[in-house]
Amino acid sequence: MRTYKLWAVAACMVAAIVATAPASVAQTPVAQTPPMGWNSWNFFAGKVTDADVRAAADALVSTGMKDAGYVYVNIDDTWEGQRDANGVIQTNSKFPDMKALADYVHSKGLKIGIYSSPGPKTCAGYAGSLGHEEQDAKTYAAWGIDYVKYDLCSFIPAVMMKQAPNDHAAQMRLMHEAYAKMSHAIESTGRPMVLSMCQYGWDAVWEWGASVGGNLWRTTGDINPTWDRIAKIGFSQDGLERYAGPGHWNDPDMLEVGNGRLSLAEDRSHFSLWAMLAAPLLAGNDLAHMKPEVSAILMNRAVIAVDQDKLGEQGHRAYAEGEFEVWQRNLSGGAMAVCIIDNGSSRYSTHPFHLQLDKLGLRGTQTGTDLWTGKSVTLTDNMPIELGAHDVLMVRLDHPAA
Ligand code: GLA
Repeated sequence: MRTYKLWAVAACMVAAIVATAPASVAQTPVAQTPPMGWNSWNFFAGKVTDADVRAAADALVSTGMKDAGYVYVNIDDTWEGQRDANGVIQTNSKFPDMKALADYVHSKGLKIGIYSSPGPKTCAGYAGSLGHEEQDAKTYAAWGIDYVKYDLCSFIPAVMMKQAPNDHAAQMRLMHEAYAKMSHAIESTGRPMVLSMCQYGWDAVWEWGASVGGNLWRTTGDINPTWDRIAKIGFSQDGLERYAGPGHWNDPDMLEVGNGRLSLAEDRSHFSLWAMLAAPLLAGNDLAHMKPEVSAILMNRAVIAVDQDKLGEQGHRAYAEGEFEVWQRNLSGGAMAVCIIDNGSSRYSTHPFHLQLDKLGLRGTQTGTDLWTGKSVTLTDNMPIELGAHDVLMVRLDHPAA
């Protein structure tokens, strides 16, 4: 009896010590709000070099984007070289010294991200992590990496199709396990790293992504800098809101703001919609050479504040009517963001639209702030709203009246 009591006391003491001990490094929470930063792929694709990444880091600081919250500098595919005799991944000649690059990015007060695949090859055909997961995670930790994008690609033919040719359920299990494996490998390094899952939304990843350690997961195939693609991806996110929250986010892909031939209205609508979606805000343009109008969009602090709202509640479609999409998002402190986008097929026309507040669960006149003009705005029931094609009205209601 006495021995039992002593053990019980000892066990309680251990439990108390564990409970009050500071969280270990591996438990440091990441991505409590949607990650913000820059990624090389959308603009530089396979051409990205060490110099481009340094220039992006410099630009994040000099433009003020870092102060607005953009901290991750993410190198996408095509940095990889061969493995050495011990299997350790090397960089290719475009990235002469990854540790030095990471140190440079860190010296600016920023964080650095990298890219790999659970398959033998990445999407661009460079070395993937298959069979080297722990080794790669250790290498990333030694370099000082803070964020890993893990892209399915060749894992499909090389592992899923090969090991379970006619068994869909087994293929899906292999895919889940591949992500869990990299998540554990990262955790074992003791260095906190964001894990970005890139498998294009397969097998309803939003339902299981967090359980295998993902902090964000792509919900669709690749974005491109056309309004049609951005609208298709963005407006298809309705219904996924219940899967997002602090530490685990739906990812409708990286931003195309400032890329291709998007109009400024389209850039604004894209950015607004991604903020409504609590999406990661990873700029994908050439930061060192962007126009002031583009940086002004990326640095609209009021829109960023919607994206980064600490409640972490993803917005949803309130209703769609004709060419107009009306979305709403609950924000902390009882506030609400409302976003109306003209998704009309003609870029050059304007269309009258009458806002119905009851469809947003609102009653009577609402006063708020137009987040693109900064001016105060009054929303009344049935009011006509006129927008240029693909343009947006985004309003923050601090005290929505229901
Ligand atoms: C896939 C991803 C893109 C990018 C490329 C790189 O297409 O979805 O985001 O990472 O691979 O090869």
